[in-house]
Amino acid sequence: MEAVNPYYPIPTKVKKIISETSNVTTITTFILAGMPIKFEAGQFAELTVPGVGEAPFTPSSSPYAKDMKFTIMCVGRVTEALFNLKEGDVVGVRGPFGKPYPLKEFKGKEIYIVGGGVGFAPLRSLFLALVHNIKDYKKIYIRYGARTPKDLVYRNLVPEWQRIDGVDILLTVDVGDESWQGRVGVVTVILDEIPVDIKNSPAIVCGPPLMLKFVTQRLVDAGFKNENIYLSMEKNMSCGVGKCNHCRVGKFYVCKDGPVLTWSDVKDIEEPFL
Ligand SMILES: Cc1cc2nc3c(=O)[nH]c(=O)nc-3n(C[C@H](O)[C@H](O)[C@H](O)COP(=O)(O)OP(=O)(O)OC[C@H]3O[C@@H](n4cnc5c(N)ncnc54)[C@H](O)[C@@H]3O)c2cc1C
Ligand code: FES
Repeated sequence: MEAVNPYYPIPTKVKKIISETSNVTTITTFILAGMPIKFEAGQFAELTVPGVGEAPFTPSSSPYAKDMKFTIMCVGRVTEALFNLKEGDVVGVRGPFGKPYPLKEFKGKEIYIVGGGVGFAPLRSLFLALVHNIKDYKKIYIRYGARTPKDLVYRNLVPEWQRIDGVDILLTVDVGDESWQGRVGVVTVILDEIPVDIKNSPAIVCGPPLMLKFVTQRLVDAGFKNENIYLSMEKNMSCGVGKCNHCRVGKFYVCKDGPVLTWSDVKDIEEPFL
């Protein structure tokens, strides 16, 4: 599963670009030469734009798919360059890095997934991996919130996902519009009633730091075990392999020990989400 040299970006070609929202795009890349990059849900890769730089992203595609997809929000230098890619352009991929979700431990359980904004990208990869072996899990719940209906990524895919037997999806937006008939309010409003076996279910959360903080609090209050709350820690990264110290959170290197850590791992760290 590991690239030959973890520091060497493997050239990939951009095959397809889908505009998700005004500042989020999904690119599909395929390896130009050599071995395909195999990843497991939860692992991340560094994307390199020649002449600009590199940044970490978790694939949003299924680990079982041939090509890799990345869903990218334009926030700065590298993401702007990625956002402006055209089909046929070449980007480098290093990885995969970090640890995957422990899917074996999730078997036979109800899985409670909570996403915010573009944080739903890594969760899509997890969701597709779970759906691939859906009989292994009791039920998959997705609770997803974005600022407005126009900021919901993969909105057109949700009806298709909702029809899958064993999948339950609820969406909310902070501010609705005339097209929106669903729930309105920050994501915690759809966590009021949690229809899972709370003591035994994993809850998996990815989103902006403030959302992580409030959702974690809600899940702890509801009775989820600290070790069953899985949080995506988005820290600044550089090497990706535990050498440069850029991504330290307490005793953890997010690139190597994460990027997903449990609440049990980080709860005693001062401001773990900053
Ligand atoms: C493991 C991991 C997985 C990630 N997966 C994804 C993913 O799937 N999709 C995705 O879009 N992003 C993802 N990110 C975040 C992404 O790496 C950053 O957005 C990116 O590094 C920003 O680089 P830049 O050069 O464009 O911005 P910079 O020029 O470095 O920063 C510009 C400004 O944007 C701010 N900024 C940086 N990151 C973010 C952010 N995430 N949200 C809001 N503001 C930010 C900075 O504080 C700064 O003010 C992930 C991060 C990690 C660590
Ligand atoms: S990114 Fe270098 S130690 Fe984690």
